[in-house]
Amino acid sequence: MNSPIRRILVVNGKGGCGKTTIATNLAVAYACQGTHVALLDNDPQASSTHWASLRDTSLPTVEVVAKHERPNMYQTQTFHHRLPQDTEVVIVDGHSNARGRDLESLLRQTDVILVPMLPSSIDIRAGGHFITELLTHRIYRAAPRPVGVIANRIQPNTETHDKLMHFLGCLDVPVVAQFRDSPVYTDAAESGMGVVDMREVRAARKETAQWKRLITWIDAQSVEQAGTTVATLRMKMKPRAAKRKQGENSSTAAEQ
Ligand SMILES: Nc1ncnc2c1ncn2[C@@H]1O[C@H](COP(=O)(O)OP(=O)(O)O)[C@@H](O)[C@H]1O
Ligand SMILES: [Mg+2]
Repeated sequence: MNSPIRRILVVNGKGGCGKTTIATNLAVAYACQGTHVALLDNDPQASSTHWASLRDTSLPTVEVVAKHERPNMYQTQTFHHRLPQDTEVVIVDGHSNARGRDLESLLRQTDVILVPMLPSSIDIRAGGHFITELLTHRIYRAAPRPVGVIANRIQPNTETHDKLMHFLGCLDVPVVAQFRDSPVYTDAAESGMGVVDMREVRAARKETAQWKRLITWIDAQSVEQAGTTVATLRMKMKPRAAKRKQGENSSTAAEQ
């Protein structure tokens, strides 16, 4: 059956703000609730792919597709063709240098955008510029879609946290989740896990509510915005001519 596919892009021009951490943990949070989730590793550094290689097969499945990898000469390079048929959610781990055409193609294939941000003045400044760039991007303006900021590595009740929240309050973009600065994230990254997998760890359990909150926000966004299926996505991506046409026509409903 063709189930609606939701495409979530995790992106920020700043490296180290937590894109891979958010993408992998969100994928796990979906997988743990029984959703068929695929993680698309858009970063040439392939951190999500490495994370997946560490993941125990007994844990809920997260399919990982490395965009920059061509598995063998007979397999298509178009990553959409490599998504499992039953995929319900695709999470894209966008890389920090996503600019110009790269950002353009990421935006075309996205229903919901998540922008992780760290609470330092350098990151707040860079994040602000990135969000402005995003909201004024012609592809985005042609078809605006939900954008949520994620405050990452927060230390509640500190001055930097207050500063971040004040800055974020001035943006026209909601803060949809806040994740603590906790070693549990490093532990998860090093074992191919997400914090939602780690039910026996108290610090991980404390984070679970925020992951649920994030999924609730994503799921509350219009299903119509997602408005496509893996099958239609594949069909539309198949012929080269159709693909080229899609590239020219940035605001086609199929791409939004
Ligand atoms: N909430 C967090 N608490 C602690 N460490 C974190 C947290 N989020 C990210 N990190 C760590 O910060 C580093 C950079 O995160 P990463 O997700 O790789 O960033 P990006 O993909 O944006 O470059 C990694 O070592 C990661 O484990
Ligand atoms: Mg990364």
